[in-house]
Amino acid sequence: MLFLESKVQRIQEDLEVMARHTATPGQGVTRFSFSDEDRLTREYIKERMKQCGLMVYEDTAGAIVGRRSGKNDQAPVVMVGSHFDSVKNGGPFDGPAGVVAALEIARVLEENQVMTEHPIEFIALVEEEGGRFGGGLFGSRAMAGKVSMEELMTYNDKDGISMAHAMAKFGFDPDLIGSAARDPRQLRAFFELHIEQGPILEATGISVGIVEIVVGITQLEITLQGRPDHAGTTPMDMRADALVAAADLIMKIGRLAKSAGNGTVATVGKISARPGAANIVPGNVECTVDIRSKKEENINFVVRGIERELKLLMRRNPAISYSMMCKLAIAPVRLTPRIIDILTAEGNDRGISTKLMQSGAGHDAMVMAGLTEVGLIFVPSKSGRSHCPEEWTDYLQLKQGVDLLLGAVLAVAQKIT
Ligand code: GLV
Ligand code: MN
Ligand code: MN
Repeated sequence: MLFLESKVQRIQEDLEVMARHTATPGQGVTRFSFSDEDRLTREYIKERMKQCGLMVYEDTAGAIVGRRSGKNDQAPVVMVGSHFDSVKNGGPFDGPAGVVAALEIARVLEENQVMTEHPIEFIALVEEEGGRFGGGLFGSRAMAGKVSMEELMTYNDKDGISMAHAMAKFGFDPDLIGSAARDPRQLRAFFELHIEQGPILEATGISVGIVEIVVGITQLEITLQGRPDHAGTTPMDMRADALVAAADLIMKIGRLAKSAGNGTVATVGKISARPGAANIVPGNVECTVDIRSKKEENINFVVRGIERELKLLMRRNPAISYSMMCKLAIAPVRLTPRIIDILTAEGNDRGISTKLMQSGAGHDAMVMAGLTEVGLIFVPSKSGRSHCPEEWTDYLQLKQGVDLLLGAVLAVAQKIT
């Protein structure tokens, strides 16, 4: 049997170009949404899409969409893509690997003049990481109609710029955010390729992971308000030290995650203490908490435990108060069995080894699963590293994932169901 195949040189070139658009050269990829680096990468992706004959537009949330007509152009669309924003000081593959996979599939279809029954949309999403504004999964949540104007007004970057303001400055009208919502009746399926970001594929020597379950994620932003005082003159028992309170809370959060069980994890990844001087008792602390589990009740257990700890903390020191904001709450997701079967069969047919997996990372695919049938595949990550400059995937291994995805996209797009 003759299979359509991707070309590894093109995949490599796209990824190398995109990796150069970083705000932190020499210190990994930092490509925040609605930034200069976003603009440069966006122009590159749009240009590449146009070169293979796609009809290119941007939705009102800033996602790039390249549409390829089907024989039956009114049929629901098959989507394939991922995100092109990055975390702070991240690597070149988290997100772009899936965008480049989509670009390459578009090129292969074009050069082989394949006409599918369903139209196909090649998608590049933004702010999946929440790197600039917190929260994340923004492009897909906008497609699901789950981004409110309130979110755009209240989620700020580190300089206090709201999402609404940043979007408007970049050229998108935040008032139109609702128009990014897609009608599920017009969607046939969503496919995403992503790097694994963990060590399992490399350790088992398996080429492609097929994701069955993506863990649920809740992200909180907690502010502790104490009182700034002189560090030399204020006795220890007369302080309202917000950082000491935060330290106590952080230790408890780790214990709560462990006692929740089922591999529940909780991370305080960002913290700031103000005013931030050696000789001032910290009066204000802001920190994030990221909680993940394949069971929603485990996440809720940790959130309730945090609330309990905060109340206890205030009782112990009434001069300290707190506020807590939930920036992201997404339930664990089971992906579509029918699509998993198609991906597995494609691996078998092509002689590409596959394995069913769980994802501990969040992905746009989990949001899209609320709209349509979804398939998510992983390719190996070197030493399991990700969200760091060392993040790496061998290009030939990535090609195997792209080939498998290409076959599965075709299998769905060729058949009117
Ligand atoms: C994205 O990488 C996430 O899992 O937060
Ligand atoms: Mn990521
Ligand atoms: Mn990602």
